[in-house]
Amino acid sequence: METKAHRVRIGIVGLGRLGKRHALNLTSVVAGVELVAAASPVASEQEWAREQFPGIGVYGTLEALLAHPGLDAVWLVTPTSLHVEQVEQSLLAGMHVFCEKPLSLTVAACDRVLALAAERPAQKVMVGFCRRFDASYMELQRQIAGGDLGRLYRLHFESHDPIDPAGFFIKFAPTSGGLFLDCGIHDVDLACWLSGGARAVRVSASGSHVQYPDLAGCGDIDTGVGTIEFETGLVVTLFISRSSHRGYEAKIWANGTQGGLVAGGGIQAPAISVERGNFSSLPGLPDFFARFSDAFRVEAQAFVDCILKDTPSPLSLDDAVTATRLAIALREACEQHRVIEL
Ligand code: NAI
Repeated sequence: METKAHRVRIGIVGLGRLGKRHALNLTSVVAGVELVAAASPVASEQEWAREQFPGIGVYGTLEALLAHPGLDAVWLVTPTSLHVEQVEQSLLAGMHVFCEKPLSLTVAACDRVLALAAERPAQKVMVGFCRRFDASYMELQRQIAGGDLGRLYRLHFESHDPIDPAGFFIKFAPTSGGLFLDCGIHDVDLACWLSGGARAVRVSASGSHVQYPDLAGCGDIDTGVGTIEFETGLVVTLFISRSSHRGYEAKIWANGTQGGLVAGGGIQAPAISVERGNFSSLPGLPDFFARFSDAFRVEAQAFVDCILKDTPSPLSLDDAVTATRLAIALREACEQHRVIEL
């Protein structure tokens, strides 16, 4: 029988849109874990934590949470602009660290985290690329790695967020790193994973404001297209939008010399589909959580298990840094209207 000694004692930091979901997962569907503390600077979020999880320590800052007795790991679900500093603080406090994507807004800061983590190999660190833990994408990866499609020469990714009349993205944009780093990084990471770790050699990108002209104020876009070329000849195309009438959607098309596969979806394809105004005949999903809720659970379990069994993190920090570098290169290619050689 599981005992307290075999549980990872976790403190969660950030109880916003996604942090609440992680906290509920950690207390209901993830085994071998005990949520012992939570931190948020927002009083209503602290109140939420007290009501949902009676008896846990509730704090206003990461510093205060790190002093909670017996803490093993920190779960960071805070704004992206805070990630690097908070990962560093948590590592220095001796914690294992799960941090939501992306790791950082700059490449230089990624290198700092890599160096610090390398000095502390006993502490596990993982950045949350939940899509790697989606059942359909894991099956796609298994078939590609097993050679079922032959030599992989094309991947196409589509990730659509539904139009948000409340304009959450505009509030979120100044600390998110922009469309390619915030949203596109998921597909960038998947491309690297599905390529089998091949080296990317060139990127290009373009984008525009389709629904949210106010994003221009912080240099962001809501619709983007990117290409990544790999040394193996694999060509990857990405289409990312926050302006979909169809609802939330994430899909991958893969082609190899022996065959092709489509993974993901969630929307049935009728004979004819209409997308106009606020009306869509396609029964789309409401948000990313509806599409990836199970992947978030599997991801959390995988990280907890690697701490309990002292095995390597299922997704290395090098992987997270590679994806961050590439996503930043795509953003720069888009901003500067040029092809970037890597
Ligand atoms: P949010 O804005 O809804 O929540 C942020 C939380 O951080 C709030 O609870 C806020 O009170 C807290 N916070 C702000 N400053 C803080 C500080 N100094 N110390 C401690 N807590 C602080 O944002 P959301 O949407 O929950 O995103 C959080 C992170 O999760 C972002 O990095 C985002 O990129 C990532 N994310 C990942 C997704 C995925 O598919 N894996 C999907 C959505 C978000």
